[in-house]
Amino acid sequence: MNTNSNLTEKEITIGNDTFELMIEEAEIKKRIKEIAREISSDYKDKEPIIVGALNGAFIFIADLVREITIPCEIDFLKVSSYGNEKTSSGKVKLLTLLNRQFKDRHVIIIDDIVDSGLTIDFMKNLLKDYHTLSIKVVALLYKKEADKYKYVPDYVGFEIPNKFVIGYGLDYAQKYRNLKHIYVLK
Ligand code: IMP
Ligand code: MG
Repeated sequence: MNTNSNLTEKEITIGNDTFELMIEEAEIKKRIKEIAREISSDYKDKEPIIVGALNGAFIFIADLVREITIPCEIDFLKVSSYGNEKTSSGKVKLLTLLNRQFKDRHVIIIDDIVDSGLTIDFMKNLLKDYHTLSIKVVALLYKKEADKYKYVPDYVGFEIPNKFVIGYGLDYAQKYRNLKHIYVLK
């Protein structure tokens, strides 16, 4: 994949792997509007702090926050668990520090995908010491069968099978985040 026209292909070949179109951009946008409506109503008058998990969620965060209609603050946390592989390394690394006042605030964590649940578990634990009023999690994708930590996000875009996906922010070895649609490994 190195030409622009390939960005809307039904199938993409990367080395020996074939990825097929799984969720189209229009469908993602539609679901985001629904989640944003829910969040806007649930957090009315609560002025939440949104904490986006980088890098994978960067496109999802940008699209979601622009559909949210209530006042909110937005911040980012950079974490890494996959390295350059197609499966989680089993360890989460924190690559940025938080220096915000979370005390007595409602926090909404936004991530691209909950796979084993390790990353979310790590981020929730990190925020626990800040005396927040509440912490909830939004995940665009949820691999239910892979959820080792039995961690169910509070807001889920799409439940997907336990397969490797790319696009719409999700990478394979740091590439393919710029695909408009979500593709799944065949
Ligand atoms: P977990 O800690 O196992 O839940 O994995 C969460 C993180 O791993 C996500 O925030 C993603 O960045 C990455 N990840 C999990 N599954 C996939 C996938 O299918 N494709 C690309 N990245 C993934
Ligand atoms: Mg991520």
